[in-house]
Amino acid sequence: RAVGVVGAGFNGGQPRPGVEQGPTELVKYGLLDQLKTLGWDVTFDEKFPVYELKGPEETGSSGKLKNVAYVSRVTEDLANTVAAFAEKKLIPLTLGGDHSLAMGTIAGTSRVYSNLGVIWVDAHADINTPESTDSGNLHGCPVSFLMGLAGKVPGFEWLQPCLATNRLVYIGLRSVDDGEKKILRDHKIKAFSMHDVDGHGIGRVMEMALDYLGTNAPIHLSYDVDGIDPTVIAATGTPVRGGLTFREGHYICEKLYETGQLVAMDLMEVNPSLGEVITEKEQTIQVGCSLVRAAFGETLL
Ligand code: ARG
Ligand code: MN
Ligand code: MN
Ligand code: MN
Repeated sequence: RAVGVVGAGFNGGQPRPGVEQGPTELVKYGLLDQLKTLGWDVTFDEKFPVYELKGPEETGSSGKLKNVAYVSRVTEDLANTVAAFAEKKLIPLTLGGDHSLAMGTIAGTSRVYSNLGVIWVDAHADINTPESTDSGNLHGCPVSFLMGLAGKVPGFEWLQPCLATNRLVYIGLRSVDDGEKKILRDHKIKAFSMHDVDGHGIGRVMEMALDYLGTNAPIHLSYDVDGIDPTVIAATGTPVRGGLTFREGHYICEKLYETGQLVAMDLMEVNPSLGEVITEKEQTIQVGCSLVRAAFGETLL
């Protein structure tokens, strides 16, 4: 039982500063000690200084995509870090930082685990291509890059397609761009929107998600905290109302722990600077830690 925590303080995939402070705040709140208390061996790799912007040469655009060289450098480094942890049989736990980081984390785990499945918890599908994106923010694009739907993107030569379109399941979607909806339909990508969570209940949704990915498959949980409702998670850059409840958000983590299938986790888009009042910031940090604990064995009874 060993976890390799990566403090991926990085904001280059989107325009709002503050999200690079997510890992620092989570660790300051005591996340690493909480994991130790649950019986985990904890290795911590603080990437914050490495993931700072080197200079203006990293903020150039390629077509609509912003900060291409910056995001590419950081995600390539992250892929190597995550793969090295996974190779040593540690569970990589990457604390973000914005969700473009998942290009690195999933590329990393997919090098080590064959038949990897991904459960992507999010309000958003993050599957825009260089053509479909309106914002040009790369945190809205990682899934298309991982699946090879983005084509060849200059500057991202290191990232080869490593996730088949039928190896990912979304949970929590409620803000999907029209171009993204077409991609999801065209490639028949498995997605449980909030409507599906309402209709089936989270228990049945997780059962269907695990059936789909295979009950023996290694699973990478990529958790964007904006999947949870803004009344619970306020300090995040792109909140959307109508999200997962506190319990639904935790159930996903608990179920994955219970199955023993969890091989990696990302906790993304924690932006401590965006809480309107101090208690919202604190609540987001607290719930972030609580989600990780649930995925790493904390039980209610
Ligand atoms: N779909 C929008 C875009 O592409 C929002 C993406 C939000 N992504 C996130 N990781 N919070 O810009
Ligand atoms: Mn999101
Ligand atoms: Mn979106
Ligand atoms: Mn996301």
